[in-house]
Amino acid sequence: MRVLITGAAGYLGAGLIQAFAGRHELRLLDVVETPCDAEGCESLVGSVADLDCCREAMSGVDAMVIAHMAPRGRGLYASPAVPFEVNVTGTANLYTAARDAGVKKAALISSIVVVKRNQEAGDYLTRDLPPQSVTHPYGLTKVCQESIARQFHLCDGIASAVLRPAYITDEDLQADKYGREASEPNWQYIDRRDIGQAARLALELPDLGYEVFYVQGPPDADRHADLAYTRQRLGWAPEHDFTRLDRRPT
Ligand SMILES: NC(=O)c1ccc[n+]([C@@H]2O[C@H](COP(=O)([O-])OP(=O)(O)OC[C@H]3O[C@@H](n4cnc5c(N)ncnc54)[C@H](O)[C@@H]3O)[C@@H](O)[C@H]2O)c1
Repeated sequence: MRVLITGAAGYLGAGLIQAFAGRHELRLLDVVETPCDAEGCESLVGSVADLDCCREAMSGVDAMVIAHMAPRGRGLYASPAVPFEVNVTGTANLYTAARDAGVKKAALISSIVVVKRNQEAGDYLTRDLPPQSVTHPYGLTKVCQESIARQFHLCDGIASAVLRPAYITDEDLQADKYGREASEPNWQYIDRRDIGQAARLALELPDLGYEVFYVQGPPDADRHADLAYTRQRLGWAPEHDFTRLDRRPT
């Protein structure tokens, strides 16, 4: 497959590229240049907020991984304008371009924030919980992204794997994207390369529908969310389970 990855120059993007490189051809889209020396890898600079750019990026691809987001910091999430333009309009643009180009498969990097209300209530996180926002506007944009993916599945038959990570980090670097040390791992941790593997396995499914996948690494995540479906449906197992970082008292 030729796979388009948006937000490829970001923190998660590096893990996504690693999971796909050598197995599939890649087209990378970001507002900044994405370094990639893998064979068959092409880097485009442009914005998902621009529908023409999305159409150009979609040309000749078989599937897409949606991983862009308006940057945290710089006060951008203090008002809805930029987060909605990038996260929501950008996602709608990509699905529109995919529909028009006949691209039938997507992996959407969502977030566990869409079920945070249930999480805070101590509920076991099932795949059919209705997405709700508790944080504005970030959480709201993630709820909107999931709604867009669902609509394009219902109306246009585009299959989507909706991945719900919580806290993305790197087991080797022991740091998250802000450079914060991963010192007290909990069940919500996930290594970015394991998200990449889940996205790849989902896009390789011959019969993907609209499906929600929780992606968490530590073994005790099973007590909190339906990781069994992710493992069984995708044949996925996290290579990085953070047990060697676990310094919690037993
Ligand atoms: N980091 C986490 O802990 C975490 C947790 C849960 C979900 N997520 C989700 O994972 C995804 C990736 O997050 P990340 O942590 O890698 O973020 P990041 O900020 O490191 O990467 C996002 C990338 O999107 C790019 N981008 C911004 N505006 C763009 C535009 N208009 N067009 C194209 N690209 C644009 C940025 O340049 C950046 O490279 C997001 O959807 C986020 O909601 C992240």
